[in-house]
Amino acid sequence: MKELRDLEPDFWRAPSAHNTQPWLLRYHKHEVEIGWDPARALPVSDPTGRDLRLGLGAFVETCLIVCASAGLRVGFRSDPGPLRAGFLHGTAEPYRTPFTTTDVRARGANRGAYEAGRLPAEVMDRLAEHANLVRVPCRELAGLLFAADLHQFGDPEVTRELREWLRLTPRHPRYLLDGLTDQALSLGAGEALGLRASLALYPALRRLGLPKLLAGAGRGLLDYDGDVLVLVGDPGDQLEQGRALMRTWLTLSGLGYTTHPLSQIIDCAGTRRALADRLDAKDPDSLLHLARAGKPKAPAVRSARVRT
Ligand SMILES: Cc1cc2nc3c(=O)[nH]c(=O)nc-3n(C[C@H](O)[C@H](O)[C@H](O)COP(=O)(O)O)c2cc1C
Repeated sequence: MKELRDLEPDFWRAPSAHNTQPWLLRYHKHEVEIGWDPARALPVSDPTGRDLRLGLGAFVETCLIVCASAGLRVGFRSDPGPLRAGFLHGTAEPYRTPFTTTDVRARGANRGAYEAGRLPAEVMDRLAEHANLVRVPCRELAGLLFAADLHQFGDPEVTRELREWLRLTPRHPRYLLDGLTDQALSLGAGEALGLRASLALYPALRRLGLPKLLAGAGRGLLDYDGDVLVLVGDPGDQLEQGRALMRTWLTLSGLGYTTHPLSQIIDCAGTRRALADRLDAKDPDSLLHLARAGKPKAPAVRSARVRT
């Protein structure tokens, strides 16, 4: 078990919504329980726990890859309880995976500008080995993104919860630990200051059109010739879907691509339904994750972690 403790900084490179890193590891005699910390969940913006379970799945997959890369024979047994996902335990053989700890360390979200161009068919074929991702041209979803952002920033509670995880100045005491920094969000100094000021004045400015202003800031994000990938799967199996999502992100990153998740389109019931119609998906809840994907114009800054 000591060997696993030493690998924790690499386990922690797994992605999580708002970079909350909600994972808890409890070391038992023969296995390690993977749980989560309710204080690091997002009850307002993720009320069903969808992103939490996807993130737990991504964490499980990351643990298995990192253990296999270290030559450790470790498997995972799903045993979902209210505060846990399951257990890491000893196996006869290491987990079989094409990915390594180097891949885990190299992956990261990138919220900057992407090169124009759709994902090649060969790349989509590689992704299809892991998950059911539907590809949609960015521009087709620009209107839904604006509507979802308007919905998100119009909700004082969602905005308050987001603000708790923003670290928009290096002076923030948790800047190097968790949450979303100005750099991770690809904000220039002026933009970060503007966002801080407007969120501080949110209660006073909400009725004066601040949500529209904030939503408008993201307007250009999908206005280019690129792709959005939508993860469509069994909503009852979100942990496994999170594991699959992690494999697709590692596949993309290994090929020089990156992703910028835009979960708000799925969080907001109205835009989720509109997207389900656009994709001919019968059940809007089968839409589990959405991100633009492509070749970034510049590398992203490495995101913060509590374990380093
Ligand atoms: C399930 C899930 C949902 C996410 N949703 C969003 C999102 O809506 N917007 C966004 O900018 N990033 C989103 N992210 C990305 C996280 O913010 C990111 O993984 C985290 O900040 C850590 O950064 P890294 O991925 O660069 O390591 C999501 C990640 C996961 C796992």
